[in-house]
Parts: sequence; structure tokens; C-alpha cells
Amino acid sequence: MSRMNMLGRGRRAAALTAAVMLAIGGAAGCAKEDTGGTTEGGVALVKAGTLTTCTHLPYAPFQSKDDSGKVVGFDVALIDLVATRLKVTQAIVDTPFEGIKSGADLNSGKCDVAAAGMTITDERKKVLDFSDPYFDATQALATPTGKEVKTLDELVGKRLGVQGGTTGEEYINTQVKDKNLKIEVVSYKDLAALQQALATNQVVAAVNDLPVWNEYIKANPGKVVVAAGFDTGEQYGFAVKKGNAELLKAVNDALAAARTDGTYDKVYAEWIGEKPAA
Ligand code: ARG
Repeated sequence: MSRMNMLGRGRRAAALTAAVMLAIGGAAGCAKEDTGGTTEGGVALVKAGTLTTCTHLPYAPFQSKDDSGKVVGFDVALIDLVATRLKVTQAIVDTPFEGIKSGADLNSGKCDVAAAGMTITDERKKVLDFSDPYFDATQALATPTGKEVKTLDELVGKRLGVQGGTTGEEYINTQVKDKNLKIEVVSYKDLAALQQALATNQVVAAVNDLPVWNEYIKANPGKVVVAAGFDTGEQYGFAVKKGNAELLKAVNDALAAARTDGTYDKVYAEWIGEKPAA
């Protein structure tokens, strides 16, 4: 007789369930929807037992791969707190920033939450629901050491690098337009490409968020300096799909708890460094 008959009823049912799950799991690779899941607290997730996070790598110190290939950073640590609250584990999906900030990735169910050192802007608020702000940032102009450029005017006729789709790119494009500066603005697809361009003199300067340059300088001492800052007064927020109030609440609750119990400061010290005096 078949092996099935040797199994008890319960085990047979379990085996059948496993087979069905496998079939569904296999189909999910190409189908748009996974089976999804719901936490004990009633938060719907695109993948059962998992808080799926969209981010765009690399963006140290907020998210980048460590030597073992694991994605780590300030944002990762904070979203881990949300996952813990929901009694699930975080899984990270690396995907271009464009799809994150446009809401496309959240809308299509690629992930539950976006955590990408992403600045809260009015435009993005139209397509995403942002958490409470969790980090303050400004823009900074980096140049090779010894080739400092302090103002945008000095970049006229030269190449200035930016990261595609970011607030830094937007800031520079606005400045260039408003002040009619003849700067050649070159847009790179991610931070690594931008930093590589600066390191190999494809551009004479590059703009990105200040903490990202600070991190780069820590990792590559002596090569690059922050030559100027632009106080754009940005704040980062995590984002969920528009209308996902349950998950948004879980994110905000986790952030609030972390601020109260000292975890936020610990995570900040670990990934960013000393906090500026308030
Ligand atoms: N803060 C900037 C913005 O919102 C840059 C974010 C880029 N983040 C990333 N993970 N690539 O536009």
C-alpha cells in the first residue's frame, strides 16, 4: 500500500497541507500575491511570519551589507523593533529607490514597510503614509581632500554628482535652475556609484545626506571631506502603504517605546555616533 496509509490521519493531513503550501509557495514566485498573513495583533503582512522591508542598498549607516552579506544599519535595527513587537522576523528586499518613494513597491505587495533613510516630503506623503520622524538630516557636499569647494558657484562648468531620485538631487536641480548655474549635474543610480564616481574623479564634488558622507569618511579616512553643508532640515520617516493604519501604528508605537526606554539612543550611538547636543 502507499506510504500515505502508514501515516496517521493527522500526519496525512499535515503532509497534504505541506504539499499545498509548497504548491502555493512555488506559485507565489511568479504570481503577484503571496498568501500573506496576519499577526496575533491583527496586522496584515504580505508574507506570513515576516515583516518584509523594502530598501535601496547601499545606504550606510542606515542600511548596508556587512562582511557576511547581512543587511545591517540604523533603519534595520529600528525596524527589527517593530518586527519583535509583531512577533515576526524582518526580511529585507533591496530594490531601486524610485519604486520605494513612488509607493509602487508597497502598493504591489513587494513589502510591508519601506525603510531607506527616506526623507518625508509633501510629494511623497501623497503616495505613502509616513511614520513619525525618526532621524534629522541635512544635505552635504563632499569633495576629495585638498580639492574643497565651498559653494555651488565654484562648480560652474564642472561636474557635480547626485543620487537619482533623492532629495539631494532635487535640491541641487532646484538651486541650479533658480540661480541659473551652469553646472553639469550627473545623476547616479545608487550611493555606491556616486561615491565611486567621486573617488575616481568622474565628478569634482558630490551631494548626499550628511550622515552618509560621515560614514564614508569613517570607512575611507583621509580621502574625502565634507566641504559644505546645505541645511535642508530633512526628517526621515518609515513608510507603509497608504491606509495601512494598523502597521503604521505598530511602527510608531515601536519608535515611541524605543525613545522612552533608551533603545533609540543605544541604536543611534551604535550606528550614527554621538548625538548632537539638543
Ligand atoms: N534621504 C534621501 C531621500 O529621501 C536619500 C535616501 C536614499 N536612500 C537609500 N536607501 N538609497 O531622498
